[in-house]
Amino acid sequence: MSTSTGWSEDLATGVETIDDQHKEIFRRADRLSAACSEGKGKEEVLKLVEFLEDYIKEHFAAEERLQMRNAYPDYASHKALHTQFVAEVARLTTALKEEGATLPLVIMTNKTVTSWLVQHISKIDMEFASYLRNS
Ligand SMILES: [Fe+2]
Repeated sequence: MSTSTGWSEDLATGVETIDDQHKEIFRRADRLSAACSEGKGKEEVLKLVEFLEDYIKEHFAAEERLQMRNAYPDYASHKALHTQFVAEVARLTTALKEEGATLPLVIMTNKTVTSWLVQHISKIDMEFASYLRNS
């Protein structure tokens, strides 16, 4: 059973590397939820939490590099949104480590990540993608 909102065509920015990375985040969030609902061991679930967190950071860094390289005027505010969200993910990861990777907490993590991502992609990343297309 999947609890996540998956990637769909209406989230396509048209920038292939970014779209591929977004898909990978959804996949990792899914894998985390699946491991937890399949009753996988605590260690494996925590590993997947870190796997997800690492990739989110990697993706943001890649997106920010692309913005820098293209002199994106909204770079600073876009980066600030990323930084804010990384802090939120870090809080969730810490909670999962401290309180244990329970199904409700994992579901909440998955929901937080996927719904933030959907919002962020549909507005903020789309603006950047359209800037890239027109520059
Ligand atoms: Fe972004």
